[in-house]
Amino acid sequence: MHRQAATSGQGRRLRGRSVANIVRFLWILGYLSVGLGALFSTFFYPDLLSIWRSQRETIQPYVLPQRGEYGVQPRTGELRLKQEVVPPQLTQSPSKDVESLELKKLWKPPPNRGYHPCVEPSQSYSGPPAKSRGFLVVQSNGGLNQMRAGICDMVAVARILNATLVVPELDKRSFWQDSSNFSDIFDVDHFMEALKGDVHVVKSLPQEYLLAPKAGKQFQSWSNVKYYEDIIAPVWRDYKVIRAAKSDSRLANNDLPADIQKLRCRVHYDALRFSPAIDEFGKMLVERMRKNGPYIALHLRYEKDMLAFSGCTYGLTEKEADELTKIRKLTSHWKVKDINSTDQRVRGFCPLTPTEVGIFLKALGYPRYTPIYIAAGEIYGGDERMAGLLSRFPNVMRKETVATSEELASFVNHSSQLAALDYIVSVESDVFVPSYSGNMARAVEGHRRYLGHRKTITPDRKELVALFDKLDAGDLTEGPELAELITDIHRRRQGAPRKRKGPISGTKGRDRFRTEEAFYTNPLPDCLCSETDPIKPGPKKSHIARQLLSCDGLQSRGSLSIWQRH
Ligand SMILES: *[C@@H]1O[C@H](CO)[C@@H](O)[C@H](O)[C@H]1NC(C)=O
Ligand SMILES: *[C@@H]1O[C@H](CO)[C@@H](O)[C@H](O)[C@H]1NC(C)=O
Ligand SMILES: *[C@@H]1O[C@H](CO)[C@@H](O)[C@H](O)[C@H]1NC(C)=O
Ligand SMILES: *[C@@H]1O[C@H](CO)[C@@H](O)[C@H](O)[C@H]1NC(C)=O
Repeated sequence: MHRQAATSGQGRRLRGRSVANIVRFLWILGYLSVGLGALFSTFFYPDLLSIWRSQRETIQPYVLPQRGEYGVQPRTGELRLKQEVVPPQLTQSPSKDVESLELKKLWKPPPNRGYHPCVEPSQSYSGPPAKSRGFLVVQSNGGLNQMRAGICDMVAVARILNATLVVPELDKRSFWQDSSNFSDIFDVDHFMEALKGDVHVVKSLPQEYLLAPKAGKQFQSWSNVKYYEDIIAPVWRDYKVIRAAKSDSRLANNDLPADIQKLRCRVHYDALRFSPAIDEFGKMLVERMRKNGPYIALHLRYEKDMLAFSGCTYGLTEKEADELTKIRKLTSHWKVKDINSTDQRVRGFCPLTPTEVGIFLKALGYPRYTPIYIAAGEIYGGDERMAGLLSRFPNVMRKETVATSEELASFVNHSSQLAALDYIVSVESDVFVPSYSGNMARAVEGHRRYLGHRKTITPDRKELVALFDKLDAGDLTEGPELAELITDIHRRRQGAPRKRKGPISGTKGRDRFRTEEAFYTNPLPDCLCSETDPIKPGPKKSHIARQLLSCDGLQSRGSLSIWQRH
Protein backbone atom coordinates (compact mmCIF):
# COMPACT_ATOMS: atom_id res chain seq x y z
CA MET A 1 0.00 0.00 0.00
CA HIS A 2 1.26 3.44 -0.79
CA ARG A 3 0.59 6.60 0.99
CA GLN A 4 1.72 9.70 -0.78
CA ALA A 5 0.09 12.47 1.18
CA ALA A 6 2.20 13.89 3.93
CA THR A 7 0.28 13.67 7.14
CA SER A 8 0.80 17.03 8.67
CA GLY A 9 -1.22 17.54 11.83
CA GLN A 10 -3.36 20.18 10.20
CA GLY A 11 -4.13 18.21 7.10
CA ARG A 12 -4.79 15.11 9.10
CA ARG A 13 -7.30 16.93 11.25
CA LEU A 14 -9.26 18.48 8.38
CA ARG A 15 -9.32 15.38 6.28
CA GLY A 16 -10.00 13.21 9.29
CA ARG A 17 -13.28 14.90 10.15
CA SER A 18 -15.21 14.31 6.96
CA VAL A 19 -13.54 11.11 5.99
CA ALA A 20 -13.83 9.47 9.35
CA ASN A 21 -17.60 9.45 8.95
CA ILE A 22 -17.44 8.02 5.47
CA VAL A 23 -14.98 5.41 6.57
CA ARG A 24 -17.13 4.51 9.55
CA PHE A 25 -20.15 4.15 7.28
CA LEU A 26 -18.23 2.07 4.81
CA TRP A 27 -16.96 -0.15 7.52
CA ILE A 28 -20.50 -0.94 8.61
CA LEU A 29 -21.58 -1.40 5.03
CA GLY A 30 -18.69 -3.73 4.46
CA TYR A 31 -19.66 -5.81 7.42
CA LEU A 32 -23.30 -6.07 6.47
CA SER A 33 -22.81 -6.89 2.84
CA VAL A 34 -19.77 -9.03 2.78
CA GLY A 35 -19.88 -10.83 6.08
CA LEU A 36 -17.23 -11.03 8.67
CA GLY A 37 -15.46 -14.11 7.51
CA ALA A 38 -14.96 -12.70 4.07
CA LEU A 39 -13.90 -9.32 5.36
CA PHE A 40 -11.13 -10.76 7.44
CA SER A 41 -10.09 -13.19 4.85
CA THR A 42 -8.14 -10.33 3.37
CA PHE A 43 -5.16 -12.46 3.72
CA PHE A 44 -2.41 -10.34 4.97
CA TYR A 45 -2.90 -8.93 8.42
CA PRO A 46 -1.29 -5.50 8.56
CA ASP A 47 -2.92 -4.53 5.33
CA LEU A 48 -6.23 -3.75 6.98
CA LEU A 49 -4.97 -0.53 8.37
CA SER A 50 -3.16 0.42 5.22
CA ILE A 51 -6.28 -0.22 3.22
CA TRP A 52 -8.15 2.02 5.56
CA ARG A 53 -5.46 4.64 5.29
CA SER A 54 -5.24 4.58 1.56
CA GLN A 55 -9.01 4.86 1.39
CA ARG A 56 -8.83 7.82 3.67
CA GLU A 57 -6.45 9.49 1.32
CA THR A 58 -8.06 8.70 -1.98
CA ILE A 59 -11.66 8.82 -0.73
CA GLN A 60 -12.81 5.77 -2.57
CA PRO A 61 -15.43 3.35 -1.45
CA TYR A 62 -14.08 0.50 0.59
CA VAL A 63 -12.94 -2.22 -1.75
CA LEU A 64 -12.08 -5.65 -0.58
CA PRO A 65 -8.98 -7.18 -2.04
CA GLN A 66 -9.96 -9.95 -4.39
CA ARG A 67 -9.67 -13.41 -3.06
CA GLY A 68 -6.64 -15.09 -4.37
CA GLU A 69 -4.99 -11.78 -4.97
CA TYR A 70 -2.09 -13.04 -2.94
CA GLY A 71 -2.32 -16.48 -4.43
CA VAL A 72 -3.75 -17.82 -1.24
CA GLN A 73 -6.79 -19.98 -0.56
CA PRO A 74 -9.78 -18.40 1.12
CA ARG A 75 -9.38 -18.80 4.84
CA THR A 76 -12.77 -18.92 6.51
CA GLY A 77 -16.43 -19.23 5.77
CA GLU A 78 -16.55 -22.18 3.48
CA LEU A 79 -14.73 -25.33 4.33
CA ARG A 80 -12.24 -26.66 1.92
CA LEU A 81 -11.46 -29.94 3.53
CA LYS A 82 -9.53 -32.30 1.38
CA GLN A 83 -10.74 -35.85 1.22
CA GLU A 84 -8.32 -37.12 3.81
CA VAL A 85 -9.45 -34.61 6.39
CA VAL A 86 -12.84 -36.28 6.55
CA PRO A 87 -12.38 -39.83 7.72
CA PRO A 88 -13.93 -42.24 5.19
CA GLN A 89 -16.43 -43.64 7.66
CA LEU A 90 -17.86 -40.14 8.10
CA THR A 91 -18.70 -39.72 4.46
CA GLN A 92 -20.67 -42.94 4.55
CA SER A 93 -22.41 -42.13 7.76
CA PRO A 94 -26.19 -41.57 7.63
CA SER A 95 -25.76 -38.61 9.99
CA LYS A 96 -23.41 -36.99 7.52
CA ASP A 97 -25.09 -33.60 7.66
CA VAL A 98 -24.94 -33.49 11.42
CA GLU A 99 -21.30 -34.46 11.29
CA SER A 100 -20.37 -31.83 8.76
CA LEU A 101 -22.23 -29.24 10.79
CA GLU A 102 -20.15 -30.27 13.77
CA LEU A 103 -17.03 -30.02 11.64
CA LYS A 104 -17.93 -26.52 10.51
CA LYS A 105 -18.40 -25.43 14.10
CA LEU A 106 -14.85 -26.46 14.88
CA TRP A 107 -13.51 -23.85 12.47
CA LYS A 108 -16.09 -21.16 13.00
CA PRO A 109 -14.74 -18.01 14.62
CA PRO A 110 -16.57 -16.70 17.68
CA PRO A 111 -19.28 -14.09 16.99
CA ASN A 112 -17.40 -10.82 16.71
CA ARG A 113 -20.30 -8.51 17.43
CA GLY A 114 -19.29 -5.92 14.87
CA TYR A 115 -15.98 -5.04 16.50
CA HIS A 116 -13.53 -3.49 14.13
CA PRO A 117 -10.28 -1.57 14.48
CA CYS A 118 -10.73 2.08 15.46
CA VAL A 119 -7.26 3.51 15.68
CA GLU A 120 -7.68 6.88 14.00
CA PRO A 121 -6.23 9.67 16.10
CA SER A 122 -8.63 12.15 17.68
CA GLN A 123 -9.32 15.53 16.10
CA SER A 124 -6.98 17.30 18.48
CA TYR A 125 -4.08 15.01 17.60
CA SER A 126 -1.21 16.87 15.99
CA GLY A 127 1.86 15.70 14.17
CA PRO A 128 5.23 15.36 15.88
CA PRO A 129 6.64 18.54 17.45
CA ALA A 130 8.22 21.03 15.06
CA LYS A 131 11.29 20.88 17.21
CA SER A 132 12.21 17.66 18.88
CA ARG A 133 13.74 17.98 22.34
CA GLY A 134 16.36 15.31 21.86
CA PHE A 135 16.99 11.71 20.93
CA LEU A 136 15.62 8.57 22.54
CA VAL A 137 17.96 5.61 22.09
CA VAL A 138 16.38 2.29 23.01
CA GLN A 139 17.94 -1.07 23.82
CA SER A 140 15.14 -3.56 23.40
CA ASN A 141 15.28 -6.58 25.63
CA GLY A 142 13.89 -10.10 25.54
CA GLY A 143 12.75 -12.38 22.78
CA LEU A 144 10.95 -11.36 19.61
CA ASN A 145 7.51 -10.70 21.00
CA GLN A 146 8.72 -9.04 24.14
CA MET A 147 10.82 -6.72 22.00
CA ARG A 148 7.94 -6.00 19.63
CA ALA A 149 5.68 -4.89 22.46
CA GLY A 150 8.52 -2.88 23.97
CA ILE A 151 9.31 -1.11 20.72
CA CYS A 152 5.67 -0.10 20.30
CA ASP A 153 5.66 1.29 23.81
CA MET A 154 8.85 3.22 23.16
CA VAL A 155 7.26 4.90 20.15
CA ALA A 156 4.53 6.13 22.51
CA VAL A 157 7.15 7.22 25.05
CA ALA A 158 9.05 9.13 22.36
CA ARG A 159 5.82 10.92 21.52
CA ILE A 160 5.13 11.78 25.16
CA LEU A 161 8.68 13.12 25.54
CA ASN A 162 8.66 15.01 22.22
CA ALA A 163 11.75 13.01 21.39
CA THR A 164 13.17 11.78 18.12
CA LEU A 165 13.25 8.01 18.27
CA VAL A 166 16.39 6.30 17.05
CA VAL A 167 15.46 2.95 15.46
CA PRO A 168 15.80 0.59 18.45
CA GLU A 169 18.67 -1.81 18.97
CA LEU A 170 17.67 -5.42 19.40
CA ASP A 171 18.69 -7.77 22.17
CA LYS A 172 21.55 -9.94 20.99
CA ARG A 173 22.46 -11.45 24.31
CA SER A 174 19.14 -12.97 25.31
CA PHE A 175 18.70 -16.66 25.83
CA TRP A 176 18.20 -16.94 22.10
CA GLN A 177 21.47 -15.34 21.07
CA ASP A 178 20.19 -13.90 17.83
CA SER A 179 22.51 -11.45 16.10
CA SER A 180 19.75 -9.97 13.93
CA ASN A 181 19.40 -6.22 13.97
CA PHE A 182 16.22 -4.21 13.48
CA SER A 183 16.23 -4.18 9.70
CA ASP A 184 16.83 -7.93 9.53
CA ILE A 185 13.53 -8.51 11.29
CA PHE A 186 11.40 -5.47 10.63
CA ASP A 187 10.64 -3.33 7.61
CA VAL A 188 12.49 -0.24 8.78
CA ASP A 189 11.42 2.00 5.91
CA HIS A 190 7.78 1.18 6.42
CA PHE A 191 8.22 1.78 10.14
CA MET A 192 9.54 5.30 9.55
CA GLU A 193 7.03 6.11 6.84
CA ALA A 194 4.02 4.88 8.83
CA LEU A 195 5.00 6.93 11.88
CA LYS A 196 5.54 10.19 10.01
CA GLY A 197 2.44 11.73 11.53
CA ASP A 198 3.30 10.59 15.05
CA VAL A 199 6.97 10.81 15.96
CA HIS A 200 10.27 11.68 14.35
CA VAL A 201 12.28 8.55 13.70
CA VAL A 202 15.89 8.35 12.53
CA LYS A 203 17.87 5.26 11.60
CA SER A 204 20.82 6.13 13.76
CA LEU A 205 22.03 8.79 16.11
CA PRO A 206 23.43 11.71 14.08
CA GLN A 207 27.21 11.92 13.99
CA GLU A 208 27.39 15.05 16.12
CA TYR A 209 25.64 13.33 19.03
CA LEU A 210 27.67 10.16 19.06
CA LEU A 211 30.05 11.54 21.62
CA ALA A 212 27.55 13.74 23.42
CA PRO A 213 26.88 12.89 27.07
CA LYS A 214 23.90 10.55 27.36
CA ALA A 215 21.45 10.15 30.20
CA GLY A 216 21.22 6.40 30.83
CA LYS A 217 17.81 5.53 32.23
CA GLN A 218 15.95 2.44 33.19
CA PHE A 219 12.38 3.64 33.04
CA GLN A 220 10.15 2.45 35.83
CA SER A 221 7.85 -0.43 34.83
CA TRP A 222 4.22 0.29 33.96
CA SER A 223 4.61 4.06 34.10
CA ASN A 224 1.99 6.59 33.13
CA VAL A 225 2.28 9.84 31.17
CA LYS A 226 2.86 11.85 34.31
CA TYR A 227 5.98 9.83 35.11
CA TYR A 228 7.51 10.56 31.73
CA GLU A 229 6.52 14.23 31.81
CA ASP A 230 7.52 14.94 35.41
CA ILE A 231 10.43 12.60 36.05
CA ILE A 232 12.01 11.94 32.66
CA ALA A 233 11.33 15.07 30.58
CA PRO A 234 13.33 17.35 32.94
CA VAL A 235 16.40 15.37 31.85
CA TRP A 236 16.21 17.27 28.56
CA ARG A 237 17.49 20.36 30.37
CA ASP A 238 20.90 18.74 30.72
CA TYR A 239 21.03 16.14 27.98
CA LYS A 240 20.23 15.80 24.32
CA VAL A 241 20.25 12.03 24.34
CA ILE A 242 18.34 9.68 26.63
CA ARG A 243 19.37 6.05 26.51
CA ALA A 244 16.71 3.60 27.70
CA ALA A 245 18.30 0.41 28.97
CA LYS A 246 15.14 -1.68 28.65
CA SER A 247 11.97 -1.57 26.63
CA ASP A 248 9.71 -4.21 28.18
CA SER A 249 6.69 -3.18 30.23
CA ARG A 250 7.87 0.39 30.64
CA LEU A 251 4.41 1.78 29.92
CA ALA A 252 1.17 1.16 31.83
CA ASN A 253 -1.45 -1.06 30.22
CA ASN A 254 -4.32 1.15 31.26
CA ASP A 255 -5.33 4.71 32.12
CA LEU A 256 -3.34 6.35 29.35
CA PRO A 257 -4.74 8.99 26.94
CA ALA A 258 -6.83 7.47 24.14
CA ASP A 259 -4.48 8.84 21.48
CA ILE A 260 -1.50 7.13 23.09
CA GLN A 261 -3.35 3.80 23.24
CA LYS A 262 -4.39 4.09 19.61
CA LEU A 263 -0.85 4.96 18.63
CA ARG A 264 0.37 1.77 20.34
CA CYS A 265 -2.04 -0.22 18.20
CA ARG A 266 -1.07 1.57 15.00
CA VAL A 267 2.52 0.64 15.68
CA HIS A 268 1.89 -2.95 16.73
CA TYR A 269 -0.57 -3.82 14.01
CA ASP A 270 0.73 -1.73 11.15
CA ALA A 271 3.97 0.21 11.46
CA LEU A 272 6.04 -2.62 12.89
CA ARG A 273 5.85 -5.10 10.05
CA PHE A 274 8.28 -7.88 9.46
CA SER A 275 10.95 -7.40 6.83
CA PRO A 276 9.95 -8.29 3.26
CA ALA A 277 12.03 -11.49 3.36
CA ILE A 278 10.30 -12.78 6.50
CA ASP A 279 6.95 -11.53 5.36
CA GLU A 280 7.08 -13.33 2.03
CA PHE A 281 8.40 -16.52 3.48
CA GLY A 282 5.75 -16.48 6.20
CA LYS A 283 3.03 -16.01 3.58
CA MET A 284 4.40 -18.92 1.62
CA LEU A 285 4.26 -21.18 4.67
CA VAL A 286 0.65 -20.13 5.20
CA GLU A 287 -0.19 -20.89 1.60
CA ARG A 288 1.34 -24.32 1.82
CA MET A 289 -0.48 -25.08 5.05
CA ARG A 290 -3.78 -23.96 3.62
CA LYS A 291 -3.51 -26.29 0.65
CA ASN A 292 -4.70 -29.02 3.00
CA GLY A 293 -7.71 -27.05 4.17
CA PRO A 294 -8.16 -25.19 7.42
CA TYR A 295 -5.38 -25.69 9.92
CA ILE A 296 -4.62 -25.28 13.60
CA ALA A 297 -1.52 -23.41 14.68
CA LEU A 298 -0.34 -24.93 17.93
CA HIS A 299 2.08 -22.90 19.98
CA LEU A 300 3.63 -25.89 21.68
CA ARG A 301 5.77 -24.24 24.30
CA TYR A 302 7.40 -27.49 25.30
CA GLU A 303 10.94 -26.30 24.89
CA LYS A 304 13.94 -26.87 27.09
CA ASP A 305 14.27 -23.35 28.44
CA MET A 306 10.61 -23.21 29.44
CA LEU A 307 10.66 -26.56 31.20
CA ALA A 308 13.88 -25.75 33.01
CA PHE A 309 12.57 -22.38 34.07
CA SER A 310 9.13 -23.51 35.16
CA GLY A 311 10.30 -26.67 36.92
CA CYS A 312 7.61 -28.71 35.21
CA THR A 313 8.88 -32.27 34.99
CA TYR A 314 5.63 -34.20 34.65
CA GLY A 315 6.04 -37.08 32.23
CA LEU A 316 9.81 -36.73 31.97
CA THR A 317 12.39 -39.32 32.87
CA GLU A 318 14.44 -38.84 36.00
CA LYS A 319 17.48 -38.11 33.89
CA GLU A 320 15.66 -35.40 31.97
CA ALA A 321 14.27 -33.88 35.15
CA ASP A 322 17.79 -33.73 36.57
CA GLU A 323 19.13 -32.09 33.45
CA LEU A 324 16.48 -29.39 33.61
CA THR A 325 17.00 -28.78 37.32
CA LYS A 326 20.69 -28.40 36.69
CA ILE A 327 20.07 -25.79 33.99
CA ARG A 328 17.80 -23.85 36.31
CA LYS A 329 20.30 -23.89 39.15
CA LEU A 330 23.06 -22.68 36.85
CA THR A 331 21.06 -19.85 35.29
CA SER A 332 21.78 -16.99 37.62
CA HIS A 333 18.96 -14.71 36.51
CA TRP A 334 16.29 -17.32 37.24
CA LYS A 335 15.64 -16.53 40.84
CA VAL A 336 13.35 -19.39 41.86
CA LYS A 337 15.38 -22.56 42.24
CA ASP A 338 13.30 -24.99 44.26
CA ILE A 339 10.11 -25.85 42.51
CA ASN A 340 7.53 -28.49 43.34
CA SER A 341 6.57 -29.73 39.89
CA THR A 342 3.40 -31.46 41.05
CA ASP A 343 2.23 -28.32 42.74
CA GLN A 344 2.96 -26.17 39.67
CA ARG A 345 1.06 -28.55 37.45
CA VAL A 346 -1.99 -28.89 39.68
CA ARG A 347 -2.32 -25.13 39.74
CA GLY A 348 -2.28 -24.98 35.97
CA PHE A 349 1.13 -23.34 35.66
CA CYS A 350 2.77 -25.93 33.44
CA PRO A 351 2.77 -26.00 29.65
CA LEU A 352 0.65 -28.87 28.36
CA THR A 353 2.68 -31.83 27.16
CA PRO A 354 2.38 -32.88 23.50
CA THR A 355 0.29 -35.89 24.58
CA GLU A 356 -2.00 -33.69 26.66
CA VAL A 357 -2.51 -31.38 23.71
CA GLY A 358 -3.39 -34.42 21.57
CA ILE A 359 -6.01 -35.58 24.06
CA PHE A 360 -7.33 -32.03 24.32
CA LEU A 361 -7.74 -31.41 20.58
CA LYS A 362 -9.24 -34.85 20.03
CA ALA A 363 -11.75 -34.25 22.81
CA LEU A 364 -12.74 -30.94 21.21
CA GLY A 365 -13.71 -32.98 18.13
CA TYR A 366 -10.94 -32.14 15.65
CA PRO A 367 -10.70 -35.00 13.15
CA ARG A 368 -7.65 -37.19 13.07
CA TYR A 369 -6.29 -35.74 9.83
CA THR A 370 -6.57 -32.10 10.83
CA PRO A 371 -3.43 -30.25 9.68
CA ILE A 372 -1.61 -28.90 12.71
CA TYR A 373 1.29 -26.47 12.44
CA ILE A 374 3.66 -26.55 15.40
CA ALA A 375 4.76 -22.99 16.11
CA ALA A 376 7.76 -23.63 18.33
CA GLY A 377 11.44 -24.28 18.46
CA GLU A 378 12.87 -27.67 19.32
CA ILE A 379 10.47 -29.83 21.34
CA TYR A 380 12.13 -31.20 24.44
CA GLY A 381 12.52 -34.96 24.13
CA GLY A 382 12.15 -34.85 20.35
CA ASP A 383 10.08 -37.30 18.34
CA GLU A 384 9.65 -39.67 21.23
CA ARG A 385 7.94 -37.00 23.29
CA MET A 386 5.77 -36.10 20.29
CA ALA A 387 4.44 -39.64 19.91
CA GLY A 388 1.30 -39.05 21.97
CA LEU A 389 0.33 -36.14 19.75
CA LEU A 390 1.33 -37.79 16.48
CA SER A 391 -0.64 -40.95 17.21
CA ARG A 392 -3.79 -38.86 17.50
CA PHE A 393 -2.94 -36.32 14.80
CA PRO A 394 -0.58 -37.70 12.17
CA ASN A 395 -0.78 -34.51 10.07
CA VAL A 396 1.44 -32.51 12.39
CA MET A 397 3.75 -30.15 10.54
CA ARG A 398 6.40 -27.60 11.31
CA LYS A 399 8.57 -25.15 9.42
CA GLU A 400 11.05 -27.88 8.70
CA THR A 401 8.45 -30.10 7.06
CA VAL A 402 6.55 -27.35 5.24
CA ALA A 403 9.72 -25.86 3.75
CA THR A 404 12.98 -27.37 2.60
CA SER A 405 16.21 -26.88 4.48
CA GLU A 406 17.58 -24.87 1.54
CA GLU A 407 14.62 -22.53 1.77
CA LEU A 408 15.08 -22.18 5.50
CA ALA A 409 18.84 -21.76 5.38
CA SER A 410 18.93 -17.99 5.76
CA PHE A 411 16.67 -18.14 8.82
CA VAL A 412 17.87 -21.15 10.80
CA ASN A 413 20.59 -19.46 12.77
CA HIS A 414 18.32 -16.58 13.71
CA SER A 415 15.86 -17.62 16.37
CA SER A 416 13.98 -14.32 16.26
CA GLN A 417 13.44 -14.66 12.52
CA LEU A 418 12.17 -18.21 12.97
CA ALA A 419 9.88 -16.94 15.72
CA ALA A 420 8.61 -14.28 13.31
CA LEU A 421 7.71 -16.96 10.77
CA ASP A 422 5.81 -18.85 13.45
CA TYR A 423 4.08 -15.63 14.39
CA ILE A 424 2.79 -15.09 10.85
CA VAL A 425 1.59 -18.68 10.44
CA SER A 426 -0.11 -18.44 13.85
CA VAL A 427 -1.88 -15.15 13.21
CA GLU A 428 -3.12 -16.45 9.88
CA SER A 429 -4.27 -19.84 11.15
CA ASP A 430 -7.93 -20.80 11.28
CA VAL A 431 -7.60 -21.82 14.90
CA PHE A 432 -4.79 -20.86 17.25
CA VAL A 433 -4.09 -22.94 20.35
CA PRO A 434 -1.38 -21.89 22.81
CA SER A 435 -0.25 -24.67 25.14
CA TYR A 436 1.09 -22.09 27.55
CA SER A 437 0.56 -18.37 28.06
CA GLY A 438 3.83 -16.64 27.22
CA ASN A 439 4.67 -13.50 25.29
CA MET A 440 4.13 -15.11 21.90
CA ALA A 441 0.76 -16.61 22.88
CA ARG A 442 -0.38 -13.26 24.19
CA ALA A 443 0.79 -11.28 21.18
CA VAL A 444 -0.81 -13.66 18.69
CA GLU A 445 -4.05 -13.75 20.65
CA GLY A 446 -4.20 -9.96 20.68
CA HIS A 447 -3.44 -9.70 16.98
CA ARG A 448 -6.18 -12.18 16.17
CA ARG A 449 -8.63 -10.21 18.27
CA TYR A 450 -7.63 -7.08 16.40
CA LEU A 451 -8.21 -8.75 13.03
CA GLY A 452 -11.82 -9.58 13.82
CA HIS A 453 -11.67 -12.05 16.68
CA ARG A 454 -10.29 -15.03 14.90
CA LYS A 455 -10.66 -18.23 16.84
CA THR A 456 -8.14 -18.70 19.66
CA ILE A 457 -8.81 -21.59 22.00
CA THR A 458 -7.10 -21.06 25.32
CA PRO A 459 -6.80 -24.30 27.26
CA ASP A 460 -7.93 -24.12 30.87
CA ARG A 461 -4.85 -25.92 32.10
CA LYS A 462 -5.96 -26.25 35.70
CA GLU A 463 -9.25 -27.92 34.80
CA LEU A 464 -7.57 -30.03 32.14
CA VAL A 465 -4.88 -31.33 34.46
CA ALA A 466 -7.56 -32.52 36.88
CA LEU A 467 -9.16 -34.48 34.04
CA PHE A 468 -5.85 -35.81 32.74
CA ASP A 469 -5.06 -37.10 36.21
CA LYS A 470 -8.37 -38.96 36.19
CA LEU A 471 -7.38 -40.50 32.88
CA ASP A 472 -4.05 -41.54 34.36
CA ALA A 473 -5.80 -43.05 37.34
CA GLY A 474 -8.19 -44.96 35.10
CA ASP A 475 -11.25 -43.14 36.44
CA LEU A 476 -12.04 -41.79 33.00
CA THR A 477 -11.28 -42.84 29.43
CA GLU A 478 -10.81 -40.92 26.21
CA GLY A 479 -14.32 -40.96 24.84
CA PRO A 480 -17.62 -39.09 24.63
CA GLU A 481 -17.73 -38.27 28.32
CA LEU A 482 -14.32 -36.63 28.34
CA ALA A 483 -15.13 -34.88 25.06
CA GLU A 484 -18.24 -33.37 26.55
CA LEU A 485 -16.46 -32.22 29.70
CA ILE A 486 -13.61 -30.63 27.77
CA THR A 487 -15.88 -29.03 25.20
CA ASP A 488 -17.99 -27.52 27.99
CA ILE A 489 -15.01 -26.08 29.82
CA HIS A 490 -13.86 -24.35 26.63
CA ARG A 491 -17.14 -23.08 25.30
CA ARG A 492 -16.30 -19.58 26.41
CA ARG A 493 -12.57 -19.66 25.79
CA GLN A 494 -12.58 -19.14 22.03
CA GLY A 495 -11.39 -15.56 21.74
CA ALA A 496 -14.76 -13.78 21.59
CA PRO A 497 -14.83 -10.01 22.21
CA ARG A 498 -14.47 -8.95 25.82
CA LYS A 499 -12.85 -6.09 27.65
CA ARG A 500 -9.26 -6.37 28.74
CA LYS A 501 -9.06 -7.62 32.31
CA GLY A 502 -8.04 -5.26 35.07
CA PRO A 503 -5.88 -6.14 38.05
CA ILE A 504 -6.78 -9.05 40.29
CA SER A 505 -8.87 -7.75 43.14
CA GLY A 506 -7.03 -7.48 46.41
CA THR A 507 -3.65 -6.75 44.84
CA LYS A 508 -1.92 -3.59 45.93
CA GLY A 509 0.72 -1.20 44.67
CA ARG A 510 2.84 -2.38 41.79
CA ASP A 511 1.35 -5.88 42.00
CA ARG A 512 -1.78 -4.41 40.52
CA PHE A 513 0.02 -3.66 37.28
CA ARG A 514 1.60 -7.06 37.16
CA THR A 515 -1.74 -8.80 37.42
CA GLU A 516 -3.44 -6.77 34.70
CA GLU A 517 -4.00 -8.35 31.35
CA ALA A 518 -1.33 -6.95 29.01
CA PHE A 519 -2.36 -4.25 26.55
CA TYR A 520 -1.36 -6.18 23.43
CA THR A 521 -3.22 -9.33 24.53
CA ASN A 522 -6.53 -7.60 24.11
CA PRO A 523 -6.74 -4.14 22.53
CA LEU A 524 -10.42 -3.81 23.45
CA PRO A 525 -11.79 -1.24 24.24
CA ASP A 526 -8.97 1.14 23.21
CA CYS A 527 -8.54 0.06 19.58
CA LEU A 528 -11.65 -1.97 18.80
CA CYS A 529 -15.09 -0.43 18.52
CA SER A 530 -18.56 -1.67 17.76
CA GLU A 531 -21.40 0.63 16.86
CA THR A 532 -23.93 -2.18 16.93
CA ASP A 533 -23.10 -3.97 20.12
CA PRO A 534 -20.66 -2.13 22.35
CA ILE A 535 -19.55 -4.02 25.39
CA LYS A 536 -20.87 -2.33 28.50
CA PRO A 537 -18.19 -1.20 30.86
CA GLY A 538 -17.94 -4.00 33.36
CA PRO A 539 -16.49 -4.10 36.84
CA LYS A 540 -12.98 -2.88 36.61
CA LYS A 541 -11.39 -5.48 38.79
CA SER A 542 -11.13 -9.07 37.79
CA HIS A 543 -11.97 -11.67 40.37
CA ILE A 544 -10.49 -14.50 38.46
CA ALA A 545 -7.23 -15.56 39.98
CA ARG A 546 -4.69 -15.35 37.25
CA GLN A 547 -1.29 -16.84 37.07
CA LEU A 548 0.39 -14.60 39.60
CA LEU A 549 3.05 -17.06 40.54
CA SER A 550 3.55 -18.52 37.15
CA CYS A 551 6.58 -18.03 35.01
CA ASP A 552 4.80 -15.16 33.31
CA GLY A 553 4.40 -13.34 36.56
CA LEU A 554 8.04 -13.79 37.42
CA GLN A 555 8.96 -12.88 33.92
CA SER A 556 7.28 -9.52 33.92
CA ARG A 557 9.01 -8.46 37.11
CA GLY A 558 11.79 -7.57 34.80
CA SER A 559 14.54 -9.56 36.41
CA LEU A 560 13.97 -12.57 34.24
CA SER A 561 13.41 -10.89 31.00
CA ILE A 562 16.15 -12.40 28.96
CA TRP A 563 15.26 -16.01 28.95
CA GLN A 564 12.19 -15.95 26.89
CA ARG A 565 12.13 -15.98 23.16
CA HIS A 566 8.46 -15.29 22.77
C1 LIG B 1 5.60 18.27 23.99
O1 LIG B 1 5.01 19.20 23.08
C2 LIG B 1 3.68 19.55 23.42
C3 LIG B 1 3.12 20.40 22.29
O2 LIG B 1 4.09 21.12 21.65
C4 LIG B 1 3.67 20.25 24.77
O3 LIG B 1 2.35 20.60 25.11
C5 LIG B 1 4.25 19.31 25.80
O4 LIG B 1 4.31 19.93 27.06
C6 LIG B 1 5.62 18.84 25.40
N1 LIG B 1 6.08 17.84 26.34
C7 LIG B 1 7.35 17.69 26.66
C8 LIG B 1 7.65 16.60 27.64
O5 LIG B 1 8.22 18.36 26.19
C1 LIG C 1 22.24 -5.05 10.30
O1 LIG C 1 22.72 -6.29 9.84
C2 LIG C 1 23.01 -6.33 8.48
C3 LIG C 1 23.39 -7.73 8.09
O2 LIG C 1 23.78 -8.48 9.20
C4 LIG C 1 24.10 -5.31 8.13
O3 LIG C 1 24.31 -5.31 6.75
C5 LIG C 1 23.67 -3.94 8.59
O4 LIG C 1 24.71 -3.02 8.39
C6 LIG C 1 23.27 -3.96 10.04
N1 LIG C 1 22.76 -2.66 10.42
C7 LIG C 1 23.14 -2.05 11.53
C8 LIG C 1 22.49 -0.74 11.79
O5 LIG C 1 23.94 -2.52 12.30
C1 LIG D 1 4.41 -31.01 46.15
O1 LIG D 1 3.08 -30.55 46.00
C2 LIG D 1 2.12 -31.55 46.11
C3 LIG D 1 0.77 -30.96 45.70
O2 LIG D 1 0.61 -29.68 46.18
C4 LIG D 1 2.14 -32.13 47.51
O3 LIG D 1 1.15 -33.11 47.65
C5 LIG D 1 3.52 -32.70 47.78
O4 LIG D 1 3.62 -33.13 49.10
C6 LIG D 1 4.60 -31.65 47.51
N1 LIG D 1 5.91 -32.32 47.56
C7 LIG D 1 6.92 -31.84 48.24
C8 LIG D 1 8.20 -32.60 48.16
O5 LIG D 1 6.84 -30.83 48.90
C1 LIG E 1 24.21 -22.32 11.55
O1 LIG E 1 25.16 -22.33 12.60
C2 LIG E 1 25.84 -23.56 12.73
C3 LIG E 1 26.68 -23.52 13.98
O2 LIG E 1 27.27 -22.28 14.16
C4 LIG E 1 26.64 -23.83 11.47
O3 LIG E 1 27.32 -25.05 11.57
C5 LIG E 1 25.69 -23.88 10.28
O4 LIG E 1 26.41 -24.02 9.08
C6 LIG E 1 24.84 -22.63 10.21
N1 LIG E 1 23.83 -22.82 9.20
C7 LIG E 1 23.61 -21.95 8.22
C8 LIG E 1 22.57 -22.34 7.23
O5 LIG E 1 24.16 -20.89 8.14
